[in-house]
Amino acid sequence: MRAIPLSFAALLSIVTSLVLLAPGARAQQAAPAGSPHAPSSALTQSDIARMLPATDMGANAARNADPHLQAVSDSPATPFDAAPIPKNPLAPQADAVGAKTCVACHTQENVQASHTLHVASFRAGAANTGPQAACESCHGPGSEHAKNPTAPGSIIAFTHDAKTTPATQAGVCLGCHAGGARQHWTGSVHENRGLSCTDCHNPMARLSPEGVLAKASINEVCATCHQDIRAKFNRRSHMPLPEGQMACTDCHNPHGSITKPLLKTDTVNETCYTCHAEKRGPFLFEHAPVRQNCLNCHDVHGSNQQTLLVAPIPMLCQQCHTMTRHPNDLQTPAGLANGTRPDERLIGRGCLTCHTNIHGSNNPSGPKFHK
Ligand code: HEC
Ligand code: HEC
Ligand code: HEC
Ligand code: HEC
Ligand code: HEC
Ligand code: HEC
Ligand code: HEC
Ligand code: HEC
Ligand code: HEC
Ligand code: HEC
Repeated sequence: MRAIPLSFAALLSIVTSLVLLAPGARAQQAAPAGSPHAPSSALTQSDIARMLPATDMGANAARNADPHLQAVSDSPATPFDAAPIPKNPLAPQADAVGAKTCVACHTQENVQASHTLHVASFRAGAANTGPQAACESCHGPGSEHAKNPTAPGSIIAFTHDAKTTPATQAGVCLGCHAGGARQHWTGSVHENRGLSCTDCHNPMARLSPEGVLAKASINEVCATCHQDIRAKFNRRSHMPLPEGQMACTDCHNPHGSITKPLLKTDTVNETCYTCHAEKRGPFLFEHAPVRQNCLNCHDVHGSNQQTLLVAPIPMLCQQCHTMTRHPNDLQTPAGLANGTRPDERLIGRGCLTCHTNIHGSNNPSGPKFHK
């Protein structure tokens, strides 16, 4: 199946992660390269519970009250209480059979999944699941599937060609991960366009250092669909995203947001101020288009003009400043440095030679942004 070629990389990563995650020599001894089937045995339940960040899954308590959804094992309380086995609407009669049954047929998937955060923590009883429920807490109860594995829909599957709808798929994940950054998932453009969580996440193999992503990095995940945007970052002027110092998610929340287009903050300018705080001001003399929207002059994803500008200077300024005195002249080749009538507005930094503080000025004599 799809993830098979990754097994070697996954095998390597379990060895590394065990060494990194469990402190002390005990963990190193406990990670013999030849035991990929039982890697989590190297860590005790309390080891793993300690490693996990605090997560409030209390919101699932109501769902968990439904006896049909109860997890099959009684593990001690952890920060991840109350996570039920999700229902499969396409196999309503199915019951949980336990991970041992799944693993008997899906050896390969088991090896890969054993390196993942989820399976490791579920086996340790986090999320109140326990070893038995390590597969079915995502894939739903498996008795029907185990009887008749080729019946489509008999198990919750997470691919687009599967019979399980994207809404059911997302519902499984949201059963434990609702709220927080995913508060606005429902109704978001990604949800509306039929994406499932697993277009961007793959919890079945360890492909990214963090975030359980479907590709090695956030930017690669986004680029699978937004190639045009990623390509703009290759232009002459760009923020350091191709250099790996920024990610699409510095500005966007792919899980949904109340600000179009999926911005993390209330306005474009607020997004920019999170890093370019000095542009927030306040200034004694404001330049109106800067206050209104940084995108009046900048193309955030990349530009072939200097400094991410949407047009070269002086044309950028002249889009708005045509009716004033000196900027109003027609610019001709004669105004270039080697022309017959060299003009400061075309030479060197153009308008910026004199109007240096274009984002606003705090100098008492800076109303024209000279200082
Ligand atoms: C008797 C062997 C057997 C058992 C037990 C079994 N599976 Fe499967 N499973 C298969 C086979 C064979 C396929 C491939 C079916 C196909 O290609 O049509 C499959 C496919 C799947 C798929 C992909 C389904 C799809 O629609 O793409 C998932 C997910 C899955 N199994 C999960 C599980 C889980 C979780 C369990 C334990 C509850 C489990 N399986 C138990 C044999 C088994
Ligand atoms: C955290 C949720 C989660 C857990 C736990 C989990 N899976 Fe999966 N599984 C997924 C997702 C998501 C996919 C789809 C991955 C992809 O995009 O190819 C998947 C895919 C699969 C497939 C089908 C692969 C394919 O190519 O179609 C099988 C089989 C499978 N899982 C078996 C298991 C078994 C066995 C376990 C327990 C050891 C398990 N899963 C645990 C979420 C989970
Ligand atoms: C039974 C509860 C449960 C289900 C179902 C579940 N998860 Fe998780 N998930 C966890 C736990 C527990 C962790 C580890 C602790 C944490 O980071 O909150 C985790 C971690 C994650 C992380 C990494 C968080 C981080 O901070 O790096 C991602 C991403 C994630 N899950 C995505 C998914 C996706 C996608 C699905 C559906 C295919 C899914 N989860 C299904 C419980 C669950
Ligand atoms: C369009 C791509 C995309 C989709 C769809 C998506 N995610 Fe994510 N998700 C990401 C990226 C990228 C990150 C890493 C964000 C970061 O590190 O800033 C992430 C982070 C996470 C995290 C860990 C960080 C956190 O916010 O707690 C969880 C959990 C998670 N996603 C769950 C889900 C669930 C559940 C769904 C489906 C309802 C989903 N994601 C759908 C791209 C996506
Ligand atoms: C599986 C494909 C897919 C992936 C992966 C994906 N997107 Fe999208 N994205 C879409 C589709 C489809 C739309 C809707 C486009 C449209 O309506 O024109 C969209 C729209 C958007 C929009 C515009 C929203 C709006 O309101 O106009 C943003 C921003 C966006 N995605 C960011 C991201 C980021 C960031 C990532 C990576 C974390 C990502 N996307 C990953 C498919 C994807
Ligand atoms: C520095 C912040 C920032 C980063 C980084 C960023 N974006 Fe954007 N993105 C924006 C802003 C602001 C807009 C609104 C543009 C507009 O309204 O013209 C936008 C618009 C979009 C849109 C929808 C409108 C369009 O221009 O097509 C998509 C899709 C998108 N971004 C995807 C991405 C992807 C994918 C990445 C990573 C490769 C990314 N963005 C990185 C700030 C950012
Ligand atoms: C996550 C942090 C971050 C956010 C958010 C951000 N930037 Fe940047 N920006 C950077 C970094 C880092 C650089 C590179 C600085 C350097 O090279 O000295 C940069 C550089 C720039 C440059 C100069 C590019 C050049 O070629 O010299 C402009 C213009 C710019 N950003 C505009 C914006 C705008 C407009 C927004 C809001 C839509 C924004 N930035 C949001 C981090 C950010
Ligand atoms: C009226 C057009 C205009 C608007 C609107 C504008 N800028 Fe600029 N910006 C420029 C010009 C022109 C430069 C080049 C300055 C230079 O080369 O000295 C520049 C340069 C930058 C730079 C890199 C050099 C520096 O000064 O740090 C950043 C970062 C930047 N702008 C961020 C922003 C942000 C954030 C906003 C919104 C708050 C914004 N800009 C709005 C015209 C504009
Ligand atoms: C999107 C339109 C727009 C762009 C582009 C623009 N400006 Fe402005 N600018 C304005 C507005 C509106 C004002 C405020 C006019 C007023 O208060 O009467 C202003 C004010 C000014 C002032 C002060 C004028 C005064 O009367 O006090 C100067 C100087 C100036 N801009 C220079 C520039 C330069 C140089 C550029 C190019 C880097 C530029 N502007 C780009 C719209 C723009
Ligand atoms: C050689 C220096 C210099 C250059 C180059 C320059 N300006 Fe000016 N600009 C000035 C001075 C000085 C004033 C103030 C005039 C006054 O107060 O009477 C001014 C005033 C302005 C004003 C205020 C309105 C007005 O008519 O007084 C605007 C708008 C403006 N400049 C835009 C531009 C634009 C656009 C460019 C590029 C095409 C540009 N300037 C190039 C020196 C310059």
